[in-house]
Amino acid sequence: MTRPKGNLKGRSTSESESYPVSAIRSPISTPLRVVFVGHVDHGKSTLIGRILHDTGSLPEGKIEEIKKACAAEGMEFEFAFLLDALLEEQKQNVTIDTTEIPFRTARRRYAIIDAPGHKEFLKNMITGASRADAAILVIGADEGVREQSRRHGYLLSMLGIRNLIVVVNKMDLVGYSEKRFREIEQDYRKFLQQLGLNAHTFIPASASEGENVARSSMKMKWYCAANVLEALDLLEPQKSDVDLPLRFCVQDVYRFDGRRIIAGRIETGTLRVGDELIFSPANKSSVVATIERWPQVILSGVEGSRRASSTVTQRDSSTSPGMTVVAGDSIGITLAEQIFVERGYVASHQNETPVETNRFHADLFWIVREPLRIGHFYDLRLATQEVKCQIVSIEQVMDSSTLEKTSDAREQLQRNEIGRLAIQTRGPLVIDNYDRVPNLGRFVIVDDGKICGGGTIFGGVYTDRTVAKSKNIFWTEEKITARERALRTGHRGAVIWLTGLSGAGKSTIAQSLERDLFHRGMHTYVLDGDNIRHGLTSNLGFSPDDRMENIRRVSEVAKLMADAGTVVITAFISPYRMDRRRAREIALEGNAEFIEVFVDAPLEVCEARDPKNLYKKARAGEIREFTGIDAPYEAPDDPEIVVHTDQQTVDESVATILEQLLSRLRTEE
Ligand code: ADX
Repeated sequence: MTRPKGNLKGRSTSESESYPVSAIRSPISTPLRVVFVGHVDHGKSTLIGRILHDTGSLPEGKIEEIKKACAAEGMEFEFAFLLDALLEEQKQNVTIDTTEIPFRTARRRYAIIDAPGHKEFLKNMITGASRADAAILVIGADEGVREQSRRHGYLLSMLGIRNLIVVVNKMDLVGYSEKRFREIEQDYRKFLQQLGLNAHTFIPASASEGENVARSSMKMKWYCAANVLEALDLLEPQKSDVDLPLRFCVQDVYRFDGRRIIAGRIETGTLRVGDELIFSPANKSSVVATIERWPQVILSGVEGSRRASSTVTQRDSSTSPGMTVVAGDSIGITLAEQIFVERGYVASHQNETPVETNRFHADLFWIVREPLRIGHFYDLRLATQEVKCQIVSIEQVMDSSTLEKTSDAREQLQRNEIGRLAIQTRGPLVIDNYDRVPNLGRFVIVDDGKICGGGTIFGGVYTDRTVAKSKNIFWTEEKITARERALRTGHRGAVIWLTGLSGAGKSTIAQSLERDLFHRGMHTYVLDGDNIRHGLTSNLGFSPDDRMENIRRVSEVAKLMADAGTVVITAFISPYRMDRRRAREIALEGNAEFIEVFVDAPLEVCEARDPKNLYKKARAGEIREFTGIDAPYEAPDDPEIVVHTDQQTVDESVATILEQLLSRLRTEE
């Protein structure tokens, strides 16, 4: 087998995070996956130890072994030790990638995922690698609801885990008091309601004493509902991913027997031989010719080139017409028509395509100390896609524990805060709204290889790809429209025309404005009089005719750049109204927005500043036709924006401009 060169570098890390062994399995045999969360020391490990013990899930002799070890060290036995011992054993076992501890009840099999105390707990939860069907949130009866109880609750709601059991543990420490239990229940229920989560099971328990875990407690007769295991057995698995629209995420393309096998995972939905698929972002379609299944164990090797060769030699090409594969399956397919497909592409059915964009809105939970910054480049990972992205704006910030919101726009997002953001990616990204297809609506932000936050997407607009597709047939002949360019960059091209006296501050404001727009991820460029006069207009002087020609050339260049999608900021004295009017007309001919900004400062102020000593020279008669001295400046009658640089600082002037500018530049999404 040969694999296409050049598209495999640096992938294994991201893949192993997106596709742990545990994620690849047949849905039928899947146990219910339960995650245990809650404040440190509230007894998660003890509860797990107790469950394993009471369900007879421990390896034979384990408990005696640990009791003996405890006795030898003069320590009292604790159920939490059981978990530590099991985890230690799992660590030795290199074949297991993620921590999964199985147990079973009379009703079904369970897998405890992501053990508590795990350092990377939040990170793992956020990546979705250990996505749970249900969660048990443990609150210590003695300490009550703490910050982490709330944070973890928020995270569960954000990850869409609706099956939640709250265990109020350590009831033995509060004398099995119903009053205390009710207080905690009320407190936490109120918090859950704020998250839009209702009616969850609250169980008073003592994991260390085994009260209300596997057997109903005689010490809390005031509580008659289900114990922990009964409550688990009552849960129904969440809505199956199989019923959602098809999302087949491409991991790799292999060449084998002269055929191209597209390998990946079906995140959601079903796929059959004969289905017509649309591959995003290229928007090309083809029919599924065959489905190639391979043995389960080998599939984990798809994560990188390491085990790729063995993957294919053991390939099990069980393809039959009408064969169906479903969410959770990792498969390879071949297509009837050879179209270009690579890692990161997402296949869907034609009537249920995902959103393709490079700009979207999301709620992002930030989990690292280093704050999230606007303008900084991060890596964004979503299923098998990885792109560079920038945060364009932070529109709202919420504390994940108190749920307090600040409505002011912010420049940074601190640890444990949730920001409502606009994000822009460098290339096109295939996404879904989280409430439609969670698997493609969830992403991770990575900085320097480290996962820093996780987010969920909302507000994406689904378009009818059948229309776009028929257009694509003429793609090579058709001019790329301003709208298409704007969809890629997230903003329209425009000409921002600064006019004003020499020394009024045009260049300074232009540079500062550009830096701000650039940080927002926009494509920008400054055309500045002093620089342009060195090249494009170097043959021109300062007579009225020369100035007219100067402005005409600059206007034409600005129009072209705006047409190419750039936000062009020009800084020219441009003293004549007529010339500026022409500049506007030229821009409008090219369908570019033209925004005239009057950088206003009284002549005396400009002359006093005299940054280049030109006023002095002009007064001395060394320079002729100097604007304001012996050549006129015609102030604009009706500019879109005015800034007064004698009264405003540079930052204030830039803010004034931004206020009016940003809404005009944004694409209507
Ligand atoms: S414009 O009038 O044609 O728009 P432009 O902005 O390109 O002028 O160039 C102005 C710059 O040229 C000034 O900032 C100054 O540094 C320099 N300059 C040299 N001679 C003159 C002059 N006679 N009048 C104005 N600016 C001049």
